[in-house]
Amino acid sequence: MLEVVQGDLWIFGYGSLIWRPAFPYRERHPGYIEGFKRRFWQQSTDHRGTPEAPGRVVTLLAEPGEVCWGMAYRVADEDRESVLARLDFREKGGYQRVYADVLLDRDNRIAGRPADPSVRALVYVATAENPNYAGPEPIEDIARIVQRARGPSGTNLDYVMRLADALQNIGACDPHVIELARRACDSLHSEPADAPLDDRARGVPAGEPETSRRR
Ligand code: SIN
Repeated sequence: MLEVVQGDLWIFGYGSLIWRPAFPYRERHPGYIEGFKRRFWQQSTDHRGTPEAPGRVVTLLAEPGEVCWGMAYRVADEDRESVLARLDFREKGGYQRVYADVLLDRDNRIAGRPADPSVRALVYVATAENPNYAGPEPIEDIARIVQRARGPSGTNLDYVMRLADALQNIGACDPHVIELARRACDSLHSEPADAPLDDRARGVPAGEPETSRRR
C-alpha cells in the first residue's frame, strides 16, 4: 500500500532528477539515503535509448552500509498532484514510487556528514521486477552501451556526464558513476563507431554480479 504523507511533499532524486527536476519546488537540498547504492542497471527505452537499442540509467539497490547522495526537493502541497502526474509519466519506463528517509545537508557540509533531521521523501525506484531491469553487467559493457545509445531525451553519454557533474557540484562522490564516466569517455576515443553491439547492448540481460563497492 502506498504510504500517505500529509502537507508538502519531499521528493528525492538520484539520477536525472538531480540536474533536471523540471517541476516547481519551494526549496531543495543535497541529501542522502542510507542502505542503498546507485547502479546503471536499468534499461532506458524511452529517454536515453530506444526499444531496439536501450541505454542504461540509474536505479537503487538495497545494500547495507552504502549511502546514495542526491537532491531532495520540497514540493508545495498544492502542486503535489500535478508534479506527481508529471513524474509518473517521465519515470514510466519501469520506476515505481517508494518512500525513504533522506538526511538533508542544508548547509552543504558533505564531508562532515549532515546532522539535520531526516525527511520522509518519495523516490522513484526501478526494481528487479520491472521489464526494463538489466541487472548487474560488467562496467566495460555498460560503458560501451552508454557510448552508443541515444533516445528522445538525448545521448546516454550526456546522462552519465551530467550525473557525474551534478554529483561533483554537490561535493558527493560515487565511484560507480565516476568509473562509468571515465570508461565511457575512454571507449568514445578508442572504439570504431561501427563496431558490432554485443547481446547486452541489444538489451539482453547479463547474469554475473558486479563486485559491490563501499564508500
Ligand atoms: C531519479 O533521478 O531520481 C530517477 C532516475 C532518473 O530519472 O534518472
